Amino acid sequence: MSLTKADIEQLQPELAGKNPRTILKAALNHFDNIAISFSGAEDVVLIDLVHQLGKKITVFTLDTGRLHSDTYRFLEEVQKHYQIDLEVLSPDNLALEKMVAEKGLFSFYDEGHKECCGIRKIAPLRRKLATVEAWITGQRKDQSLDTRQNISEIEVDAAFSTDEHTLVKFNPLANWTSVQVWDYIEAYQVPYNPLHEQGFKSIGCEPCTRPTRPNQHEREGRWWWEDGGKKECGLHAKNS
Ligand code: ADX
Ligand code: SF4
Repeated sequence: MSLTKADIEQLQPELAGKNPRTILKAALNHFDNIAISFSGAEDVVLIDLVHQLGKKITVFTLDTGRLHSDTYRFLEEVQKHYQIDLEVLSPDNLALEKMVAEKGLFSFYDEGHKECCGIRKIAPLRRKLATVEAWITGQRKDQSLDTRQNISEIEVDAAFSTDEHTLVKFNPLANWTSVQVWDYIEAYQVPYNPLHEQGFKSIGCEPCTRPTRPNQHEREGRWWWEDGGKKECGLHAKNS
């Protein structure tokens, strides 16, 4: 089943402030062709909740080729733990080889991360999202005061919808804090990336992520050489 923009506007106030389980249930009730995009701690909480609901769901991850080896092991661990068929999406080899041949393997430090993220993350994501009616992310409002304060539990994805294809985006953890996520992980013994024990809070690609100090915000460890708080790679382009 698919929802119109009017249906989504009606659902927004109904889901506002609801707990993640209720939002996930609504997402699964309304859509058969729906997927979780998975990379981090929040996303495993979503996978765990779907598992507890006794449902199956497509889970995909964007393999940029530049993740930490701990992250690859973690992806495999989650796949085995929940017995899911994880779709591991790769970048287009021609676009990637062209960029690397022209600019080297670390062009993002000189030119910013837009082009590299575009090839390694956004293009594969766009390809995947063209095949689903809705997707579910682990975004939270408190991940960024600058870019994530206005995310809602359900929205039309303004970045990846087209004239022919209205894509719906669910953010069931929108109102959860980091503490709530980690309480859940502890309570339900959910697998997590061991890098979190080495000071990493928000984890992306290896060359673009570093641990944060206790007084730093979690996203300060991402693309740290770039200025400002508007640190988004384009997966959630509407935010920025
Ligand atoms: S990012 O845009 O800065 O990279 P972030 O790491 O905060 O995103 O993650 C927010 C949500 O985006 C995750 O909960 C997940 O749903 C999705 N996401 C981020 N990176 C990936 C990835 N490599 N593969 C799949 N989904 C991802
Ligand atoms: Fe490239 Fe860094 Fe973006 Fe990963 S986070 S795709 S390595 S610029």
